[in-house]
Amino acid sequence: MTSHTPVTTLPPLNADEMAHSSRVTEHIRAFMAAHGGVIGFDAWMRLALYAPGLGYYSAGATKFGAAGDFVTAPEISSLFSRCLARQAADVLRETGGGILELGAGSGRMAADVLTELQALDALPESYRILEVSADLAARQRARLAELPADLARRVEWLDRWPADSTNGVVLANEVLDAMPVQRFILRGEPGAQRVRELCVGLSDDAGFGGFEWREIEASPELEHAVHAILDSLPEPLPDGYASEVCLAFQPWMAGLAAQIETGVALLIDYGLPRAQLYHPERVDGSLRCHFRHRAHDDPFTHVGLQDITAWVDFTRVAEAADSADLAVLGFASQAAFLIGAGMESLLTTEMQLAANDLRRQAQLAGEARRLMLPGEMGEIFKVIALGKGFNAPLAGFATQALSL
Ligand SMILES: C[S@@+](CC[C@H](N)C(=O)[O-])C[C@H]1O[C@@H](n2cnc3c(N)ncnc32)[C@H](O)[C@@H]1O
Repeated sequence: MTSHTPVTTLPPLNADEMAHSSRVTEHIRAFMAAHGGVIGFDAWMRLALYAPGLGYYSAGATKFGAAGDFVTAPEISSLFSRCLARQAADVLRETGGGILELGAGSGRMAADVLTELQALDALPESYRILEVSADLAARQRARLAELPADLARRVEWLDRWPADSTNGVVLANEVLDAMPVQRFILRGEPGAQRVRELCVGLSDDAGFGGFEWREIEASPELEHAVHAILDSLPEPLPDGYASEVCLAFQPWMAGLAAQIETGVALLIDYGLPRAQLYHPERVDGSLRCHFRHRAHDDPFTHVGLQDITAWVDFTRVAEAADSADLAVLGFASQAAFLIGAGMESLLTTEMQLAANDLRRQAQLAGEARRLMLPGEMGEIFKVIALGKGFNAPLAGFATQALSL
């Protein structure tokens, strides 16, 4: 997922894929034409990913796993979800209430978390899934209907934040990186830099896509956000430095805070604290597209067929949480969190159960390596815990407290 592929070497599209991508492209072009021809990249990304029935997450293609475009931790191994469940069980024992999962993908994490919570005798009152994609919600329904009846009946779906606040746990794996970002570019030397917005315009080139970057004056909101970033960095950023900022975190966090009465949200994603993310050497940001396990940086190709993501600025997440009255209860690498949440004992037990099955043992060891090693998902993925009315220590953060 981290390797970089030139767009020219992406796997070819079949006729159905080309037709779908043309429909998504036409839809976005029509929207742009109706809105003056140039729109922010955040608006463009929202359409490419979430336009109903058309966008990458809203239409029918397989996204997760070997047959899709990328692999997430819950798809790699149930060890991941079982560790999350162990941490969730500790919280639920204090708070009672239920679990709300945001952006549940294939539904595999929900199935594994519920199964582990049952084994721990810590089942939540309900397991609600907030899913913005109708197609994914349908896939999740089909998958979770296969659970034993006592587990399946606890699951319900929402397409917006719940109206009421409840006690319990919120889980979100790789949701923050899928939120639309704005792009900016710095012009001028440090000390006298102007912030410009990189928007999307309609290209005259009638070829595939027909979109191009356009540089315009930044809105006051974007300019303010970027200057706040620049002011907080240890080193200046050079002329021509381009990157992304996710202004959507702030309203999203207000929605998250409003639905927690007493409880903890565990948000897992790839990203860095601000000073590392906006490093002078990362001159073109962290926008990445994923198509059939190839990563590249051109969002204007394979429109509607590829995932588009940006690394998460965890300092911004913490700031947004703070202004929504959510406390940061922990921030650690995925590897440290999984160890704290009980990975070692879980793995030891599983290895003992597979004592006569060398293949299963090798499989478990491989899964643990992918989740935990620094060169895999162990270090670039982070877990941040946000809480309201909850002060007990969280086992997942016992071994590491990264600064933000
Ligand atoms: C990269 S996928 C991750 C799926 C799953 N959590 C996993 O780990 O396999 C991103 C998910 O976030 C969902 N999503 C995006 N924005 C969201 C939002 N504002 N609220 C809830 N879910 C959202 C998408 O529909 C999709 O299910």
